[in-house]
Amino acid sequence: MIENEKVKKILYGGDYNPEQWPEDTWEEDMRLLKLAHIDVVTLNVFSWASLQPDENTYCFEKLDKIMELVRKHGLKVCLATSTGAHPAWMARKYPDILRTEFNGMRRKFGGRHNSCPNSPTYRKYSVRLAARLAERYKGYENIVAWHISNEYGGECYCENCERAFRVWLKDRYKTIDEWNRAWNNSFWGHTMYDWEDAVLPNMLSEHFASDRTMFQGISLDYRRFNSDSILECCKLEYDALKAVTPDIPVTTNMMGAYKALDYQKWAKELDFVSWDNYPSNEDSAASIAFRHDLMRGVKQGKPFALMEQTPSVTNWLPYNALKRPGVMRLWSYQAVAHGADTVMFFQMKRSIGACEKYHGAVIDHVGNENTRVFREVAALGAELEVLEDRILGARTPAKAAIYFDWENWWAIEYSAGPSVSLHYVDEVLRYYTAFHSLNIPVDLIGAEDDLDPYRIVVAPVMYMVKDGYDEKLRSFVQNGGSFLTTFFSGYVDKNDLVTVGGYPGKLRDILGIWVEEEDALPDGVTNSFVYNGVTYPAELVCDLLHTETAVSYCGYESDFYKGMPVITENSFGKGNAYYVATASNEEFYKHFLQDLCKKAGIEPSVNTPEGVEAAWRENAKGTFLFLLNHTDKEQEVEMSFNGTELIHRSDYKQGDILLLAAKDVAILQKD
Ligand code: GLA
Ligand code: ZN
Repeated sequence: MIENEKVKKILYGGDYNPEQWPEDTWEEDMRLLKLAHIDVVTLNVFSWASLQPDENTYCFEKLDKIMELVRKHGLKVCLATSTGAHPAWMARKYPDILRTEFNGMRRKFGGRHNSCPNSPTYRKYSVRLAARLAERYKGYENIVAWHISNEYGGECYCENCERAFRVWLKDRYKTIDEWNRAWNNSFWGHTMYDWEDAVLPNMLSEHFASDRTMFQGISLDYRRFNSDSILECCKLEYDALKAVTPDIPVTTNMMGAYKALDYQKWAKELDFVSWDNYPSNEDSAASIAFRHDLMRGVKQGKPFALMEQTPSVTNWLPYNALKRPGVMRLWSYQAVAHGADTVMFFQMKRSIGACEKYHGAVIDHVGNENTRVFREVAALGAELEVLEDRILGARTPAKAAIYFDWENWWAIEYSAGPSVSLHYVDEVLRYYTAFHSLNIPVDLIGAEDDLDPYRIVVAPVMYMVKDGYDEKLRSFVQNGGSFLTTFFSGYVDKNDLVTVGGYPGKLRDILGIWVEEEDALPDGVTNSFVYNGVTYPAELVCDLLHTETAVSYCGYESDFYKGMPVITENSFGKGNAYYVATASNEEFYKHFLQDLCKKAGIEPSVNTPEGVEAAWRENAKGTFLFLLNHTDKEQEVEMSFNGTELIHRSDYKQGDILLLAAKDVAILQKD
């Protein structure tokens, strides 16, 4: 599907569930899908119950017919393994497959994404089904990808999981002494004597709310363990598929900034990343762009598949507002602008019963092509054909990076201080939004990614410094890089144990500062500081810090720590390290990052009016600039190079004014 020689264009399509409909409706569906320029369907996402009606029986006849139908009509297939919801008979016969919730409640059959990841029954039968599907359909040339399960996620606190947790702990810590040290078990008499003493941290043990724990080390390990357990299920299916069809790429659909799964670890086990983009109408363009960049980042910048988005409306928001005319197209191109090589929907056809019957679809309940949504989908489908394969495989040329780490996220939000209002993704978004508004492309990178391609690395709230990461940063800055971090950084190691000797711990020499105290400001309370002549608010958290080798740009304007530094810069080797001791408003981040980028030699590559997003991709075929008008009025952009607009095939010269209608998009290829 991605970087796949069978694919010569941006694939267009999505989830199609003909098994929910009488067979005599299928041909009409095909007519409509072709009319909408659909060329790929994701099949078989939730069919386990019909594929395996009991322990020993497998029935593939219906799926055979569907596979034949779509092949006959020239559609490509993203074939799912159906293991996102187990059959009722399995729950009845093997209750180990059922999950236990955070409050200790054992679930009954129902819902979906409902299997315990450590259930031997689930693992056995999910792998068996994947293997059988691979055997049965391996001859279908039109399969462009395997889609394992669906939106893996959630948690389980059952006894199987608890047993598996003990094994996981033993593997991680080897000795009980080391385990006691890592969790700081001398606190509150938690010394463990035997691996059997480990219990899962939930409402029955260490927690008093989902994100409020008495033992951070335990809860952090549970998060790692849970993500690993679910990943293990995915890997088992992956291996089963690959054993039969080694050349078909395999993915599972991710969910962007989804907290429970460490997607940086997950991405390594998949051939390509795919994800489901469901913003609400209120989400900022930057926050959507951020999630795309994160999904590109977990696979080191490789293109990803936009596996799902709604063509019009969801069913699960409190207010399911329609995507306004043009927004589906705009957000589809935004995905492509940030690295998507497919545009896909949930779903092709609206179902008639259960909770998704009012979810948007290409084919609505009216059943014909005479709808606004159908027309918009068909028009976009025609445009994507015009683009051919030009953009496929293209990368984002970023010189700036933001460090993002799931374990850091978990640790910050379990930390019990300094503030319940401190949310990792919000802090990352403050910096991301500034880069975005400056039209500076950014990669979202993890702890294992190389820093060499970047001139500037921003690590908002780098609370946890993973083993060796300080060394990596030290050499990055020494060699001329610019590094920026913020309050509540450098505090702990990978086990959430504080690095003593002064915050920011291992980052202290790089930043040239010492943080003595940290003040949390309740919502609505602010301090202030003046940066380059402008007064900005200080909110959320205010570090009280001393410079050592760094210089201070400005100080707090009030309270007993009036005058103490807010922004510092430290020259370190050939580079610089910056510290921002508080949180502020959007204008501040934009102003400050603009200055920092300039100093680091990064200039915005194009100037656009507010609300017009610019994003770049590059491959052997060319350099492409996407201009996306998120506003409700026509906008003008002055061209900074000679090139051709690919959707409408018009040429532009440097200095020309390109007019972008409300919600419109332009894709320019540089000459
Ligand atoms: C998710 C799922 C789909 C569907 C959509 C509805 O993304 O993967 O099966 O439920 O949500 O928005
Ligand atoms: Zn379980």
